This record gives sequence, structure tokens and C-alpha cells, in this order.
Amino acid sequence: MAITQAEFDIVRTLIRGEAGIVLEQGKEYLVEARLSPLARREGIASTSDLIAQLGRLKGPLHTKVVEAMTTNETIFFRDVEPFEVLRKEILPKLIEARRTSRRLQIWCGASSTGQEPYSIAMTLLDIPELASWKVDILATDISTDVLARARGGLYSQLEVNRGLPATHLVKYFEKKGLEWQINDKIRSMVRFEFLNLMKPLPSMTAPDIVFLRNVLIYFDTADKSAILTRIRGVMRQDGYLFLGAAETTRSLDDRFERLPFSKTGCYRIGSEPQPALRALA
Ligand SMILES: C[S@@+](CC[C@H](N)C(=O)[O-])C[C@H]1O[C@@H](n2cnc3c(N)ncnc32)[C@H](O)[C@@H]1O
Repeated sequence: MAITQAEFDIVRTLIRGEAGIVLEQGKEYLVEARLSPLARREGIASTSDLIAQLGRLKGPLHTKVVEAMTTNETIFFRDVEPFEVLRKEILPKLIEARRTSRRLQIWCGASSTGQEPYSIAMTLLDIPELASWKVDILATDISTDVLARARGGLYSQLEVNRGLPATHLVKYFEKKGLEWQINDKIRSMVRFEFLNLMKPLPSMTAPDIVFLRNVLIYFDTADKSAILTRIRGVMRQDGYLFLGAAETTRSLDDRFERLPFSKTGCYRIGSEPQPALRALA
């Protein structure tokens, strides 16, 4: 049985408030599709009963509902070109700029089940010079389920078939039963942590590179703008930001300048502050 408008409103208010994710009218089917398996797992008779149990006090069920409503779609080397731009354009520039410290900090801000940060790690290994550098990749997500999966580094045949070059499968993965496990060397390059982009950012080493791909699309304009501004505040002033193909900083944070890589949304912080920011300085 389909959920009612009132039930839909309870769920969308919850996920908008907790995760910033905007669920438009007409997405009742999505709530049903995501929450009915959760209801079954929790031993609750129906999606309506599950929503009724949410009540007013926040508890573990709220977290599970938020997690169930996140979209975790990802693949290795998603869109290909951003990783080419990273390898051929951005890393050589940063290697030059950080020649003295020989350190690189990378933050992947919506890492889902790990394919993206692991793709970054594999890209770094393509550059022999970085072997003697201290490189740290922090990968974060709001969903503890996907973080647990990502830490395990185990992928199905279907997942490794999507985007991962055969050479990388042979080089960096081991067959474990029906699945493939990414090797310890790559796993040790990535730290997975919980981070809700809607909240003030925790203290972190200023990233030289931020990947924030295919997550802004779920937020409203004000939240997109606030998130980009917080990220700009934490990243290195000569650092780089990668967004997803359908995302932009335009009209959201005009201090970011798009670099001229045709299909890749790669940005750096420009030298011209917005008037409003200058007024605050
Ligand atoms: C579609 S996936 C994108 C994964 C990867 N960046 C990519 O492009 O393939 C979006 C991810 O954003 C996460 N997410 C959604 N809202 C979030 C929030 N408020 N804070 C942090 N992560 C969030 C979801 O849990 C999900 O794993």
C-alpha cells in the first residue's frame, strides 16, 4: 500500500533536516522502495508502521531511515576524465608546488562505498615520484553502512566490471570467493570517516584536493552554497575542487574559478573576492 502524504512529509522533513537531501513531491515511490526493505529488516510490518514508529524523539531508527534514503550509486573511475585531469594536470602542478613539504592531503567528501577514493589512490600510484611522499586520503560519508563496506574493500564482479580497467583489477585486487578485495596497500592509503556535509566541518588538515562529486545535486541552493563556502574555508588556497558532471559552483560561490577542462568540473579559488566577503574582511 502506498504511503500517505502525511507519512511522506514526515520522511522528507527528517532527511532534509538531518542530511540536507531534498525530496521533491512525487517521490513517494522512492520512500516506499527504500523504506520497505528497511521495515522488513527491522521486523516491522509495513513502511507506514515504520514511519509511525519514528515519533518525535530521535533514535537509531531515524539514522537508519536517513541512511536508507541516501543514494549511494558510484563506480570506479566515474566519468574517466576527472582522473585523467587529476593525473596529467593537477598532480604535476601540486608536485611542483609542494616540492619542499612532499606532502599531499586529499579529501573525498561523499565517498559512498569507496570506489572514488580508491580510484584516486590508484591514480596516485601511477606517479612514481609520489611513492616517497606522505599522501593522505580522507574519505567521508554520512552513511555508516557505506563507510563499513568501503573499509572492507570487497566488491562484487559486477562492481569491478563497472569502470575499473582490467589492468588495475589484476594489479590491485585479489579474488575472495565470489568477490574481489582491493589490496592492503591501496586500502592503507585511505581513511574512512563519518562526516555530515550539512554540519560545520570538523578540524582537518587543509586538503590540497577536494573531490565532492555527485552529492551537491541532492541539496537545495542555500545548502549547496553554504557547503561550498565551508569547503573553500578549509581547503588550501592554491588547492583544487572536483565536482560531478552535473554540478557547478556558479551562482553558489563565485570565488571558485572553473578550470578549462571540457567535461571535468575542476575549480580553484580565484583571486577576486566577492564584494560581500570583502565587506566582512
Ligand atoms: C551518489 S553518491 C556519490 C559517490 C561518489 N562521490 C561518486 O561520485 O561516485 C552520494 C553520496 O553522498 C552521501 N551523502 C548524502 N548526503 C550527505 C551529507 N549530508 N553528508 C555527507 N554525505 C552525504 C551519500 O550517503 C552517498 O554515499
